[in-house]
Amino acid sequence: MLNPYSERAEWLEMLTRELPDMNIQFYPDIYDPDSVEYAVFWVHDTEDMRRYPNLRAILAVTAGVEQFAGGDYPDVPIVRLADEAMAGEMAAYAAHWVVHFHRKLDAYIDQQAAKVWRPIRTAATGDFPVGILGFGAIGRHIGKCLAGLGYPINAWTRSGGEEEGITHYRGRDGLKGMVSTSRAVVNILPDTPETRGLIDAGVLAHFAPGSVYVSLGRGATTVEPDLVSALDDGILSAAVLDVTETEPLPPGSPLWEHPRVRITPHTSGFTRASTAAPLIAANIRRIQRGEQPFPLYDPRRGY
Ligand code: GLV
Repeated sequence: MLNPYSERAEWLEMLTRELPDMNIQFYPDIYDPDSVEYAVFWVHDTEDMRRYPNLRAILAVTAGVEQFAGGDYPDVPIVRLADEAMAGEMAAYAAHWVVHFHRKLDAYIDQQAAKVWRPIRTAATGDFPVGILGFGAIGRHIGKCLAGLGYPINAWTRSGGEEEGITHYRGRDGLKGMVSTSRAVVNILPDTPETRGLIDAGVLAHFAPGSVYVSLGRGATTVEPDLVSALDDGILSAAVLDVTETEPLPPGSPLWEHPRVRITPHTSGFTRASTAAPLIAANIRRIQRGEQPFPLYDPRRGY
């Protein structure tokens, strides 16, 4: 059962090509619900899910899977999407904004409008550490990309880590240490009970003065009124939000008009059928052979 949220024709074409022996039924035209073994979607009507008694697995077309928290969906394995092409797009997005603010490219936009030719000296790249909140597959990709440009990388996770060239931080105390030693912080955390509202006034108070915040994981991890205060108090010089607590961002949100906030509509990395469908098809084939698909959603961890 296929119900992606975009590129419907491409998904059908790609999955038909990748799984030629399978009978692919495109929601809502499900002509034989009993034969449905796999469901491919982002979110789906939980009532409709009851129509598929022989369902073996759900394969999400997203990396983030907070939609499955709460147990409303059938009790079958849920497979997340781990698409390197999407991670690459997100890394390019994060790098763009880090470079934009590190190199003061926003100031040149104003200078050009005033016909001003004035070089602004900025910190050397090696003196501009970037912190990555969340260092799973996507966070690591972002870290590698920025390290390749010469930025020192700080990584924060629940459980810490050790690897050459990356300074790892863990836990609540580690979080404060990490943000205080970073000039830009990139948030790629999933939305879980542990991360929800994590970036609040208490944590923002430890950010290095004048630092930049780039959020492209899940909006619920940031307390938006606290973020606005941190910008107004000069703790942060700028914030870039690709994700917000409520999406679309409501017209009444002060974030829209804040002069030091940049908003993009959850587009830092797209799910594209061209790269995602072969990965999902490979996982379906794994299940057919009796192997484990990956990465599996762990409801206890929340991602
Ligand atoms: C998009 O936000 C995703 O989780 O894939």
